[in-house]
Amino acid sequence: MSRQVSSTEPPVTILVAEDDREMRELLERVLVDEGFRVVTAVDGHQTMERIEEGSFDLVLSDIRMPGPDGMEVLRRAMARRLHQPVILMTAFGSISSAVEAMRAGAFHYLTKPFNLDDLLEIVNEASAQIRQQRSVHAAGGDRAFPILFRSPAMAGLLSMAEEVAASTASVLISGASGTGKELLARAIHALGGRRREVFVPVDCGAIPEGLLESELFGHRRGSFTGAVADKPGIVEEADGGTLFLDEVGNLPASMQAKLLRFLQERRFRRVGETVERSVDVRLVSATNRDLRALVDDGSFRGDLYYRLAVISLEIPPLKDRREDIPPLVYHFIRQFNADGGYSVEGVRQDALDLLVDHGWPGNVRQLENVVERAVILRKAGLVQPSDLPPELAAAPLSGSGRSLEELERAHILQLLEECGGNRSRVARILGISRRTVHRKLRQYGLGEEG
Ligand SMILES: Nc1ncnc2c1ncn2[C@@H]1O[C@H](COP(=O)(O)OP(=O)(O)OP(=O)(O)O)[C@@H](O)[C@H]1O
Ligand SMILES: [Mg+2]
Repeated sequence: MSRQVSSTEPPVTILVAEDDREMRELLERVLVDEGFRVVTAVDGHQTMERIEEGSFDLVLSDIRMPGPDGMEVLRRAMARRLHQPVILMTAFGSISSAVEAMRAGAFHYLTKPFNLDDLLEIVNEASAQIRQQRSVHAAGGDRAFPILFRSPAMAGLLSMAEEVAASTASVLISGASGTGKELLARAIHALGGRRREVFVPVDCGAIPEGLLESELFGHRRGSFTGAVADKPGIVEEADGGTLFLDEVGNLPASMQAKLLRFLQERRFRRVGETVERSVDVRLVSATNRDLRALVDDGSFRGDLYYRLAVISLEIPPLKDRREDIPPLVYHFIRQFNADGGYSVEGVRQDALDLLVDHGWPGNVRQLENVVERAVILRKAGLVQPSDLPPELAAAPLSGSGRSLEELERAHILQLLEECGGNRSRVARILGISRRTVHRKLRQYGLGEEG
């Protein structure tokens, strides 16, 4: 039975690139049975042509085939398309090509012979992400910026966002600076029933305390020096739509109390007025501080926290979802190519390695800036390590800026390559169990191997 149930949505189309005819036909049959549309290519050249035509959502490609191989296919697909997952298969699987494929941005890596159920599970997972991205786009139209992701953590977060978007529950988004909090807030608005209404952002940290109340709730003429006319506040502007309170952790105590009252009663007064007004707004807020800790130390009201965080969504830092880096890099390259008329085609593997391995204290925003700089410097062709800022290139494996977890990850991957993928040997060298090695590899997205 087909798991692709929706009849209104176009089916997910898969490009199957495989030189072995029997295998190609088997894959086509199985995928069509599962409800996918399938396009095939018999070698690397044909695959490249199909990618230029670009009428599919997902690539399932053999690594070894005549003409350009699967790794080149992967790079081309990444450079051409916005968010096209590529799943690579090979009979000559070695851990090093698996590592290389994942680092270059492959969605997954399968070693032949593989179990068809495993293949379907991976393909269905990729197609769920494609549908998720489609739905964010469809709802947001041209105004929405695409949210790119490949990590299970972001997939989970987005499906949660889709679910809560339909409700009017208050959502609190937390995450370090540059992780995409505002983007997610806009996506929640774009996916919900208010998508045709306004989305009004307010930076609670940027407005001076003395002005905040009148900015938010409006004021009456003459209520304070400078109040030359009656003025509606931001909450009235947002009536019917979504009010986005950014950096809500910076709200001073006096405003916390007023906001709480507004949230409890959905009523407010303009400064200097006695009449109560009411509005219908959906509240989404964001913070890069640990609000719960602020509650504990008494600088943020607990009752307000619970009102704001009916639903709480936490965006992980970029270094904890490195799978998202390659698709983000390619996305930004396309964006800056379009903005500046450049024709950068992709990133050389050694440069991509540096990008994937960096600690990214400034998260996606910092990555975006680094890619912009690289595109401007390189203009055409492939981004090289010399186009990246020195702090990326200089980061030695034992660099001081790295967390223990990052060092561990790099060390295990390197050992695996040195040991030709033999996990038992890696486990012996590290003095840990083979199961632990296995579990850690799963964390790095290499769990299905061997
Ligand atoms: N998953 C993503 N896909 C595409 N672009 C992203 C993604 N996440 C973040 N960005 C981009 O990165 C930049 C920073 O995102 P955003 O402003 O939403 O982050 P933020 O968490 O609100 O940051 P800050 O804490 O600095 O306000 C934006 O240009 C945004 O479009
Ligand atoms: Mg922000």
